[in-house]
Amino acid sequence: MKLGVCYYPEHWSQKHWETDAKEMHTAGISIVRIAEFAWAKIEPEEGKYNWDWLDRSVETLASAGHQILLCTPTAAPPAWIINTHPDILPVDEEGRRRRFGSRRHYCPNNKTYHEYSKRITQAMAERYGDHPAVIGWQIDNEFGCYFARCYCETCTTEFQNWLQSKYASLDELNERWGTIFWSQTYDKWAQIEPHNLTVAEPNPSHVLDYYRFASDSWIAYQQIQIDALRESIPTTQFVTHNIIASQTTIDYHDLARDLDFVAWDSYPTGYAEMGSHDLYAPDEQIPAYAHDTGDPLLTGFFHSLTHGLKQSPYWIMEQQTGAINWSLYNTGVRPGALRLWAWQAAASGAEATVFFRWKASRFGLEQHHAGLRNHDGSADTGYADLLTIKAERQQLDDFVAQPLQTDIGILLDYSTLWAMEMQPHRKDFSCLKHLFVFYRACKALGLEADIISPQADLSRYKILLAPNTFLADETLAQKLDGFTTQGGTLLLGVRSGFKDIHNVVTEEPLPGVLRNLAGARVAKWHALPPKISYPIQSELADLDPDVTFWAEALEPADGTKMLANYSAAPFDGLAAITEKSHGNGKVIYCGIYPRFAQAVALMCHLAKLETISILDIPAGLTVFRRGEKLLAMNFTEEPIAFSTKSGEYSVAARDFSIITE
Ligand code: GAL
Ligand code: ZN
Repeated sequence: MKLGVCYYPEHWSQKHWETDAKEMHTAGISIVRIAEFAWAKIEPEEGKYNWDWLDRSVETLASAGHQILLCTPTAAPPAWIINTHPDILPVDEEGRRRRFGSRRHYCPNNKTYHEYSKRITQAMAERYGDHPAVIGWQIDNEFGCYFARCYCETCTTEFQNWLQSKYASLDELNERWGTIFWSQTYDKWAQIEPHNLTVAEPNPSHVLDYYRFASDSWIAYQQIQIDALRESIPTTQFVTHNIIASQTTIDYHDLARDLDFVAWDSYPTGYAEMGSHDLYAPDEQIPAYAHDTGDPLLTGFFHSLTHGLKQSPYWIMEQQTGAINWSLYNTGVRPGALRLWAWQAAASGAEATVFFRWKASRFGLEQHHAGLRNHDGSADTGYADLLTIKAERQQLDDFVAQPLQTDIGILLDYSTLWAMEMQPHRKDFSCLKHLFVFYRACKALGLEADIISPQADLSRYKILLAPNTFLADETLAQKLDGFTTQGGTLLLGVRSGFKDIHNVVTEEPLPGVLRNLAGARVAKWHALPPKISYPIQSELADLDPDVTFWAEALEPADGTKMLANYSAAPFDGLAAITEKSHGNGKVIYCGIYPRFAQAVALMCHLAKLETISILDIPAGLTVFRRGEKLLAMNFTEEPIAFSTKSGEYSVAARDFSIITE
């Protein structure tokens, strides 16, 4: 694994640069990422470039043996641009135009900003495109951070254009959106505004298209920079972007498509302190991980999501190095935390870990944010860990030398996610939570999963988990059909095929376009309030008989097996889970919303169908497999016993062991 660091030469007097560059090198760092917020220093006045400092900084780093990752600085347009073109500033959901004075203050659809972005990108690419130490480019920084949906006048017009090219005629749009409801029928494109300031809740089809349009806007904006870069840079320099994997406002599958690889920014304690309620069910007991390591399942889910974007290796573009500044408690870290994160990243498929940041900043918003070095330049705790990682790197590279084997795909469709988010119907019904429970079940059995798009290549997976196919069309039905026909095992979940891709309920029996594939009909469905459960009985080993949260009553077609059925009113005798042979494969329709233990029982069954060997991973342990070797990681404060075919082991607290299966 390659090691890198984020560096802001513009924050320090030049007298530090050489020492910093040398110290980085000594610590095992070989990649330095610079310039992502440095626009005002690069172009202090319109058209007047100040390359001198950046040239010197690039040379200083290159002379110390570093490879350089340059970032386009468009996440922070300077005051002179905004001053002359205030319409670049975005408008939020409440209709307020936001101000200059932080970062990410631009509308992705603003044509003037497109020109400025293209110009600065071209200028940088022309200047450094042939520099031997520059290995690649990061476009902008974390699209969608703080806000992803702008509601300005430009966006309104662009939305109308976007709709016009999607639907061609207003009759078509009116039909697809069902605008007859509440007399929303449009007779001019210009009547269609963003949905943000309506009196009552807007039409869900309208909202979904606005979300899609907003996501497409970032992808189109990114493309302007990809094109500008590729005009001047050699093909040996890569182009990437650093996503916030936990954020759901941009369709990252689309965003990833034209990048050479993707990267994500990993802040494990921040997610553990603030993000666990986004993924765990509200009544779940979250395992007691160490306070300064984060929850490896949350972090792991984002690794799997990022790996799944291109089904290939990726980077960690920012790795937490100590206390962060945007969470609740912003815990400090003890020795060992960075080491665990780096090993987990590599085992999950990351090719590089770039630490954020070299030195803590003395000014600006992030003064309380740690780096590898303190404000005074001395080593912080994370730095000692970096030295450990450097010392263990050979061992790490040996472990990950064999490719990552992911037998399971978990389908994530952002349109479905958005549709459920705007109308969850039952409190806490969330697409990500539903995926996360299955992801955890996979990890509990030692299985690796990629979280993938419905357009992804499915042929590499043995099992496809598609618990959320709320929006479905024929294309998806055929794709899933092809997967099972060729021998794959598919799991569909509750609410499958409920709607078409315009966010309108199907007029076919449920699960709509997926019912032939499922081999069952959803006869009834109930959202269940807390403390209400419906009992089932099942031939599946260890399947907890209480259905909570959401229950569907299924009628299997001829030839479809019941794997579980309800044993009391109101769904007495009807199926809860079915299994159908389809081509060479199997389709399971899971009519219950599983709790963790139920998802584990289901996964055991699926693994058996595909003859995939499973492990029994004790709670608290996170295990990665490479060939015969297992990396058993313990993110808790207590040693954990683990037994495999080869023997009994104890994995020390906040540590890991490499053992033979
Ligand atoms: C990231 C961002 C960085 C820095 C960091 C602090 O989201 O990309 O620039 O702000 O957070 O944790
Ligand atoms: Zn806008």
